[in-house]
Amino acid sequence: MAKISTVKGFADHLPEEALRFAFMEAKAREIFSLYSYREIHIPLLEYTELFARSIGTETDVVQKEMFTFPDRRNRSLTLRPEATAGVMRACMEHGLYAKESQSRLFTFGPMFRYERPQKGRMRQFHQVDCECLGTEEPRADAEIILMLMNYLRALGLEDLTLELNTLGCKRCRPAYRERLKAFLSGLSREDLCEDCRRRLEVNPLRLLDCKNPVCAELTAGAPEISAQVCPDCREHFARTRELLESLGQSHVLNPRLVRGLDYYTRTTFEVLSGNMGASSSLAGGGRYDGLAESIGGPDIPGIGFACGLERLALLLPPRPLPVPDFYIAILEEKAFAPALLLAERLRAEGFSGSFSFSATSLKSGLRSASRQRARYALILGSNELEKGVVLVKNLESGLQKEEILDDFSRLDG
Ligand code: HAM
Repeated sequence: MAKISTVKGFADHLPEEALRFAFMEAKAREIFSLYSYREIHIPLLEYTELFARSIGTETDVVQKEMFTFPDRRNRSLTLRPEATAGVMRACMEHGLYAKESQSRLFTFGPMFRYERPQKGRMRQFHQVDCECLGTEEPRADAEIILMLMNYLRALGLEDLTLELNTLGCKRCRPAYRERLKAFLSGLSREDLCEDCRRRLEVNPLRLLDCKNPVCAELTAGAPEISAQVCPDCREHFARTRELLESLGQSHVLNPRLVRGLDYYTRTTFEVLSGNMGASSSLAGGGRYDGLAESIGGPDIPGIGFACGLERLALLLPPRPLPVPDFYIAILEEKAFAPALLLAERLRAEGFSGSFSFSATSLKSGLRSASRQRARYALILGSNELEKGVVLVKNLESGLQKEEILDDFSRLDG
């Protein structure tokens, strides 16, 4: 029969990779809790409308990257392509915004986007996502960006570049959009990539960060949004940048950083690594002050970010697999019952290990113990049973000694 493999763009994480992911999650919990962020879990599946209304119907994500299908009653469901909309929905659904003036939340897990898979780009990928809801203060922008950078540094990553831009607000962006459209109308449509030809009408800002070199060259002289925003947005951005500088966090201004999701307002940012291709960001985020209203909620401003764990994993060294403390080589059928008891006593003391499920020879028992890189091989055969002992062999030093079986529950030395 033909073998069944993983779905394209979906990957298994074998133990070493799973360990790397566990490390990234553990560090995230450690760092984010220092900033009073609390963990929440939201479903993988949501009504499609949540993403269409928040991310925007004209974005690449909604247009062509979502895993969308009807349920048995023909309601359209989507595997979440990102977490921000779901976190905001949860905050509204459970009235968090009424209970606390600010909600600082983080979550982990798989996201799904139907993209062309390549290194660091998967159809099922994992994010750690942080959201600070309920405040418009630039202090929140600076703090969450600093927290992200501290997280990445705590993972041991170096050579990071933080790029920043402002996208203005719903009051000033329409005027900028018109200016940009006027500029773009002077370009020859045919020279643009297919995506940009479509974006020209529906989402002109997205032309600014098209990765196609021809489009980038054609739009090089486009007006910059940060120079066109209203005084409030300008002040907000200047304050955010000042605060970051005063906290010792350097950044570069990228006037073409518009991000791929329509809910962004004001501050947007991405983190790039010098050790990866220029086009792939490790993390991205921004402010989304109109998102709650777009999904039927009250005015809840917010700012957040997400890191792509597959991309971070590419930069992290492998983590050593934990080694077991013991392996019990059972040489006689009748040694199973005492071996099982012994294993449980040792585990109760906090030692990890396993035993052979069938009786083996001494030689192959020792081979199994060293293949598992156990610290100790414990040998139980008829000799040991008769004497009521277990033979304890330190596999590093090669030294061995007998211990009283009923009394033995500590491994040391
Ligand atoms: P995003 O820029 O779409 O933002 O994704 C954030 C990060 O997820 C990217 O920087 C990248 O590392 C990773 N990523 C995205 N797509 C893939 C993929 N196909 N394969 C592997 N990694 C990927 C968001 O998702 C926003 N929700 C971030 C945010 C939170 N904004 C405000 N709050």
